[in-house]
Amino acid sequence: MIKLGVNIDHVATIRQARKEDFPSVIEAAALCEKAGADSITVHLREDRRHIQDKDVYGLRKSLKTKLNLEMAANEEIAAIALDVKPDYVCLVPEKRQELTTEGGLDVCAQKEKLSQVVKRLKHAGIIVSMFIDADIEQVKACGDIGADCIEIHTGKYARYFKEGIFSKEFELENKRIFEASSEAFSKGLVLNAGHGLDYDNIEKICKINAMNEFNIGFAIIAKALFCGIEKAVKDMKDLINKFSPEK
Ligand code: PXP
Repeated sequence: MIKLGVNIDHVATIRQARKEDFPSVIEAAALCEKAGADSITVHLREDRRHIQDKDVYGLRKSLKTKLNLEMAANEEIAAIALDVKPDYVCLVPEKRQELTTEGGLDVCAQKEKLSQVVKRLKHAGIIVSMFIDADIEQVKACGDIGADCIEIHTGKYARYFKEGIFSKEFELENKRIFEASSEAFSKGLVLNAGHGLDYDNIEKICKINAMNEFNIGFAIIAKALFCGIEKAVKDMKDLINKFSPEK
């Protein structure tokens, strides 16, 4: 079965809107785990717009499943990761003005720098993933620098899905995802995917062979406003289980 990692950044977004001490990300994570989440993801951004350092340390202590820390490959955040030692780190590109992570990391263009960061994190026993666009060259570069996993950025997949599943763009993006996934498989890289995945578009992406885990945030937290976080997670988990290829 494909696993589900739940990104709880937006619980912290609500808290930070008032700079209050609630809603609690620790409590939210515990409810996600109770509902079947296989891991909890948070993105410690340089501008600390949602998740704060204390959240990451708190989750490290409280989680029963796995902690996946998304981070830019910069010195300050790397030092925190090396101290917290999450189970996984996912290296992402980060721009201060963006609403959310736009596009994947250009691993091909920064092989030297990224290989140093990957090496240090792996040396500390952390499993390292790279958030990349569905592109064979990027997958190869991830293999070259010693990453353990890739996470395919499914933002375009989600956008084209919304615009119409019979469009040329949707077909092409699916082809790119399929090719990138096959390349990852042949290189022995663990295959994850995330960004923009929701209750409608999850079925088709489940068909990609060798998929290990999805990381889903916004759609789950948005649904949770109306039905509670446990049901929102459980509904997504049920869909993934229903559409996952038999292993
Ligand atoms: N994976 C990565 C690497 C991300 O940066 C994000 C967004 O924070 C997600 C998954 C989750 O995306 P969404 O909130 O659109 O589900």
